[in-house]
Amino acid sequence: MITWLNHIAIAVPDLSEATARYELLGGKVSEPQARVEEGVTVAVVTFPNTKIELLHPLGEASPLIDYLEEHPRGGVHHLCFEVEDIDAASTLLRSVNCRILGNGGPKNGAHGKPVIFVDPNDFHGALVEFEQM
Ligand code: CO
Repeated sequence: MITWLNHIAIAVPDLSEATARYELLGGKVSEPQARVEEGVTVAVVTFPNTKIELLHPLGEASPLIDYLEEHPRGGVHHLCFEVEDIDAASTLLRSVNCRILGNGGPKNGAHGKPVIFVDPNDFHGALVEFEQM
């Protein structure tokens, strides 16, 4: 079902400090991009085999505000795995008692492709996103 690791998302309290750090270490860092509907500003660091998404809260209702309150220095927020078929992935995950967050169905993700997020309580404490490629 899982094909590739698409990205690891890290919540950061200071986006320009974080992008400077990755640039210093040789990462190819994108310009920060506002994703208003998700409540985040994101800078993507591209490596040959995967990406790191540096996430910073955008707006008062950002889901990252609570996260950064709990983790003031930042932290690994979620991983994203690629799958070939999001509906098949959802069915398989539900069959092993993984709850899908939100309305239970796929939504349009940050890259314009369908995604689901699984409840971390059902996935060893990690928030995991699955994205159909
Ligand atoms: Co993601």
